[in-house]
Formats: sequence, C-alpha cells, structure tokens
Amino acid sequence: MIKPLNFSFIPKIAVAITVLTVSCAKYKSTTIDPLPNPRVVETSLQKEMPFPMGAAVNVGLLKSNANYRNLVIKEFNSLTAENAMKFASVHPGKDTYNWTDADYLVDFALSNGKRVHGHTLNWYKSLPDWVNNFQGNTADWENLLKTHIQTVVSHFKGKVVSWDVVNEAINEDGTFRNSIWVQKLGVDYIGRAFQYAHEADPSALLFYNDYGHEFGPTKRTAILNLVNDLKNKGIPIHGIGLQMHTRVTQSDSNLAAAITTAAATGLKVHLSEIDIALNPDNIQTLTYTPDLAAQQAAKYKSIVKTYNGIPKTQQFGITQWNVCDADSWILSNYNRPDWPLPFNSQYQRKVAYQGILDGIK
Ligand code: G3I
Repeated sequence: MIKPLNFSFIPKIAVAITVLTVSCAKYKSTTIDPLPNPRVVETSLQKEMPFPMGAAVNVGLLKSNANYRNLVIKEFNSLTAENAMKFASVHPGKDTYNWTDADYLVDFALSNGKRVHGHTLNWYKSLPDWVNNFQGNTADWENLLKTHIQTVVSHFKGKVVSWDVVNEAINEDGTFRNSIWVQKLGVDYIGRAFQYAHEADPSALLFYNDYGHEFGPTKRTAILNLVNDLKNKGIPIHGIGLQMHTRVTQSDSNLAAAITTAAATGLKVHLSEIDIALNPDNIQTLTYTPDLAAQQAAKYKSIVKTYNGIPKTQQFGITQWNVCDADSWILSNYNRPDWPLPFNSQYQRKVAYQGILDGIK
C-alpha cells in the first residue's frame, strides 16, 4: 500500500526561515558600526584633525566608567564640562561655592594635557533656587552677576583658557530672550558680563554661545548683530560659539551659512556642542540603519568640511556634546531613541567618525 505523503514538516520550515531572517536582520543592524576599516584603528580625532577636537564631559561618567574615561583621554584634546561649571553646580547657595566636580574635571584635563573650555558663566537655565528667588534692587542684581562671574573665572584663572560668557540670550524670532537677567538688568548686562569676566582673567578668550544659527537668517542675523555690536563697542569678546545641536535633515547650505557668517565677524568660531539627531520626529520605533548611519556621516563631513575652510586663526575647534550615543542629553530630554554622536553606546567608532575624518580630506 502506498503511504500518504506527510506534509507536517512545512510549518516547521516556515518557522525556521522566519527565525533565520529575524536573526540576520538583527545581526545586520548591530554590525553597522564599529567602523570596519582597519586603517582608522590607531588614529584619534585629536591626532588627525588640524584643529582642537573636544567633548563635553559628564563628571559622574568620567569617574565611574573606564570606557568613557579612556575614550576621552584617547580621542580629544579639549574638554568642556557638560554641567559641572553651571551656576547651580558651582554656586548653589548665596555664599556657598562647590568646586568639587569642576575641579575634578579641570585636574583630569590638565594632567592629561587637554585644554579646558568653560561653560557657562551666564544662562537663563540651571540657576539655583536662591537666584530665582533673589530679592534685591538693580544694584544688588548687578552685584550678584558680577560676583558670580568674577569668583568663578578667578577660581579657574590660568587653567580654563576660554569661557562661554553668555549663553542663549536670543530667541528664535531674533528678539532678546526675556530672561531673569534681562528683566532685572536690561540687555546691556550682556556687555558688562564680558567686561567682568575680562577683569577677572584678562588672558581668557571670551565667547558668546547660542544655538540655531543654521535655522535660517532670522535668529542668525540677530546673533551676528549682537556680537558685532559688542565688538564695535570695544567689549572684550573673542569668539562666537555655534552649538550645532542639529539634525540629519538640516540642509548643508543652512549649515554652511551658519559657519561662514560666524567667521565673517572675524571672531574665533567654536562649534561648541555638536550632535546630529537622527530621530528629530521622535519616532519611538525608529531603528539605526545603515542608511541613517551614512546620512549622518555625510552631514558630519559637510559641517567639518565647511569649518575646515574658514581661516585657521579662527578655528577654535569642534566640541561634541558628550561622548557616546547613550550619554547624549537628546535621549533623556526628548525621551526617544536616537544616535546623535560619532561613538555608539559601546564606545566604538561609528560611520559618523569616518565622516568627520573625511571632512578634512
Ligand atoms: O544631577 C541631577 C540628579 O541628581 C537628579 O536625580 C536628576 C533628576 O532630574 O537630575 C540631575 O540633573 C540633571 C543634569 O542634567 C545632570 O544629568 C538636570 O535635571 C538636567 O536639567 C541637566 O540637563 C542638562 C541641561 O543642559 C540643563 O543644564 C544636560 O545634561 C546638558 O546636556 C544640557 O546642556 C545644554 C548646554 O548647557 C547649553 N546648550 C544646550 C545643551 C543641551 O540642552
């Protein structure tokens, strides 16, 4: 008798094919990075690039995470404190200063031969409650501003070579931000902040730092008018910081306009907080793909290429905002997956790293 054919194995094969496909897809997505090119293994950003390369550093991670620390030592020659030098960190009470984390960072930087850029003497955010609740007349507020700036700059005199003196004073529509400082002291406080910093350390290079130069002409023009006005008044301003918290969809022409118009002021130009978001639309299910990785590398390359084209004496350097993707403020701030930096969450070089190197070719 002929035995009937048994087709019961078919569902099992289907399951096996599905499992294999999913595993391959997973494997593929985790093998985009690190960079496969053995030629870049012994390079580092600080060795390869013709201007200083920096990172904003989180002191907690610097102390606790050896991968973080070793990567910072290897790759960068300029460091900025991500948070440790902000008002609330160093000056938590009216008569109380806390230098612990900032000193740790400065000692670490100097003992490893790195430049320290100070961030930030004046901002409308990260203020301690005692400042937000401070009661006083105009002279009292002026004294608060001056005392804070001069105490912090004097503390780090000879160790911190440059400062973001005023951070983010301009709105997207080009008007002055109605910060607590403007409310209490008027917009001319900006110039005086630079003068106070200069009195405390005449050798320090002083920057105005902001974001959104690449958004378009409105905010950019207002920022350029502000720094040109400070220059024309003889205020000691030496540089302009372009934060460059940008996104992969930003046009190369807007990014180039941001950099070249800043250079046209004649001031030093610092790309002071760069990261390139891949998920600006906050898609919770987005994954990191080879295509996104390549787009990001091209965007880093384009920015670096333009920056490399401005006069050498104006190239203060490029600083990325924190070290690896997992450390970036973007993930926690926007509560979304994203991959904005040149190192992946295992502290390995991404395709974006090669993009940076390609920018100077
Ligand atoms: O340290 C406390 C922790 O003790 C507490 O449990 C936790 C709860 O929220 O907060 C922790 O502090 C946070 C701090 O980052 C350290 O992680 C603050 O809430 C948080 O506001 C702070 O965010 C920082 C933000 O500036 C505000 O100061 C980000 O890390 C930092 O990346 C970001 O950096 C700014 C630049 O200074 C200026 N340009 C924009 C840039 C990105 O927003």
